Amino acid sequence: MSPPFAHITGWGMSVPENILTNDDLAKMVETNDEWIVSRTGIRERRIAGADQTTASLAAEASLRALEVANVHPSDLDMIILSTSSPEYIFPATACLVQDQIGAVKAGAFDVLAACTGFVYAINLGSQAIKSGSASNVLIIGSETLSRVVNWKDRNTCILFGDGAGAFVMQASDEPGGVLSAVLRSDGSGGDLLSVPGGGSANPASMQTLYDGLHYIQMNGREVFRFATRVMADATQQTLESVNMDMDDIQLLIPHQANQRIIEAAARGLNYPMDKVMVNLDRYGNTSTASIPIATVEALEQGRLNPGDNTVMVAFGGGLTWGAALIQWSGPLSYERKVSPRRVRLFARSRSIFSRLRRRVEGFFWRNE
Ligand code: ACO
Repeated sequence: MSPPFAHITGWGMSVPENILTNDDLAKMVETNDEWIVSRTGIRERRIAGADQTTASLAAEASLRALEVANVHPSDLDMIILSTSSPEYIFPATACLVQDQIGAVKAGAFDVLAACTGFVYAINLGSQAIKSGSASNVLIIGSETLSRVVNWKDRNTCILFGDGAGAFVMQASDEPGGVLSAVLRSDGSGGDLLSVPGGGSANPASMQTLYDGLHYIQMNGREVFRFATRVMADATQQTLESVNMDMDDIQLLIPHQANQRIIEAAARGLNYPMDKVMVNLDRYGNTSTASIPIATVEALEQGRLNPGDNTVMVAFGGGLTWGAALIQWSGPLSYERKVSPRRVRLFARSRSIFSRLRRRVEGFFWRNE
């Protein structure tokens, strides 16, 4: 028997209502709308309210994704949550989401690969399905980076926004779903983008607070250079591994960090920008949530349809980068998606019913 395929059958997103525009930022730091738009493409971003957290946004996006897939939370086997703004060092934010949505039989853990985290989660989820250890997997990218941004640092505070996106992944014998993935890292560039304080290297203290080590620190120019180098390479590698090329791709969904980085990647791939999903103008860089949020909006706009091939490609702190090639599926029909437990229950109740019917029929036959 060949291994099952890992299909994406549900999707959902959740973004805070609060909008922070470039003009709002210009009142906080020395910047202006023209500079931000021309250097990044970003016009506004969403900022979590006091009652919203990485877990609450994740839970909302997850429930929407489960509804699209028509999967009950109790049927989930695994929850993988990617974030760089977890609620705590531990427990994992995935466990908080597991509790909030009632996924009573799911294992749950966090992945930390910065903005590439969702691509890592796609690969982990699909490998769990292909190995047979899980049938229904929920993967989530969720961030409240507004809580770790220094609102006095114009180099970073203009870039980031809050939000969450989630996919339901399911096993099926039908070909399609996640076709390949490439995951890469280079820890030698870790200091280019980090939150250095509060972990075991620099435990929280008055000094770390005073030095602002609990905020995002970034060497923007170097990150920019790295990003433009790796996005096209990772996309090409994931295609080559299954003998495909960009002509086979209907939509490219890149990490939404900077319009210029996205355009450089498209140029490197010789791929037209009108087949590239971009929505960073309205959300900024939501880090690991940017790819699932962009996917949900691409689906709503009819830019991604069942049978289409798409590459999701990202880069981020770590340094990390990677790409996943997906043949889009959409929700599975009832017969294809029922979980093994429900199949067993269904079969058992059918056999009880038919035994009962035979007995009733036997009673009438004997009394004829
Ligand atoms: N408003 C006005 N001026 C600014 C601002 C601002 N918000 N920020 C910086 N400047 C100034 C700088 O101080 C600099 O002035 P100087 O020359 O007097 O020193 C000047 O503008 C040019 O700065 P650069 O850094 O060269 O600007 P650049 O064109 O590189 O754009 C940017 C900066 C937007 C940060 C860009 O480098 C970038 O997008 N880098 C990638 C960042 C990124 O994507 N990070 C997220 C990675 S994903 C993850 O894992 C979270």
